[in-house]
Amino acid sequence: MIGRNDPCWCGSGQKWKKCHYPKLPPQDAQTVRDEYHSKYGILIKTPEQIEGIRRAGHLAAKILEATCTMAKEGVTTLELNDLAHQMHLDAGAKPAPLHYGEPPFPKSVCISLNDVICHGIPDHTQLRQGDILNIDITAILDGYYGDCSRMVCIGEVDPERRLVVDVAYECLMRAVAIVKPDIPVSAIGDVIEGYAEAHGCSVVHQFVGHGVGVDFHEGPQVPHCRNTNSIRLVPGMTFTIEPMINAGVADAVVDSKDRWTARTRDGKPSGQWEHTLLVTEEGHEILTPWNC
Ligand code: MF3
Ligand code: CO
Ligand code: CO
Repeated sequence: MIGRNDPCWCGSGQKWKKCHYPKLPPQDAQTVRDEYHSKYGILIKTPEQIEGIRRAGHLAAKILEATCTMAKEGVTTLELNDLAHQMHLDAGAKPAPLHYGEPPFPKSVCISLNDVICHGIPDHTQLRQGDILNIDITAILDGYYGDCSRMVCIGEVDPERRLVVDVAYECLMRAVAIVKPDIPVSAIGDVIEGYAEAHGCSVVHQFVGHGVGVDFHEGPQVPHCRNTNSIRLVPGMTFTIEPMINAGVADAVVDSKDRWTARTRDGKPSGQWEHTLLVTEEGHEILTPWNC
């Protein structure tokens, strides 16, 4: 009995595994789609769905850009919410956060200041010199979802705040860079936690990236910390990466009154950036490109 690494029986001189070793029939796209749906609850998108998600993503990115540009000292987070809300309507879209979940989220965007990790609710708070904030936009256009967020600094910010803004950005972009078919979901968390730790920061584990596109939150969950999720990426998957990076401890505490606002347990700052991605044959496409 010859082994996979022995010379092939045909006399080519190559290893059997590289030569006449019996190959499994290539899986066709429909088989992969069925398997990912039934085994993992992951929806592999069709070209038509991808085009819809791309349009929603580009719109979300455009609204995000405009809202970030308006974020200046003295402006309230509610004014930012209202601009973003109106831009959704003008484009024939809907802001996904409005009335989402339980209790229903009360506003159209999430704005998270300083020690707020995510899901901050816009209100009459005025932005001040030294604040850092995350603005998170999810647009629904023709039934498709695009989800992205970024940080804004108001004037000069202290080093600890600057650190989480910069480290969270690097974590996102380094994780995006490795996205391609066949890598396990866990590789994303490896990159993010490795970079965050090397810069003295912690990674929030209570909130994760997620499949997105025909629904707001689809499978798979995409943890930003090290994990053992061995599901492999395949072309046609659409999901977010949205690392939340803390200067102090990783723990998030959800406000018991509004049941949304998630703050760091130690009151230290937190940063987050988010993109919606498509896995392509060659690698990936960012579906929420900034400056589009
Ligand atoms: N956009 C957030 C995310 O990245 C989710 C916000 S849920 C909401 O997944 F209800 F707060 F809007
Ligand atoms: Co998201
Ligand atoms: Co988001």
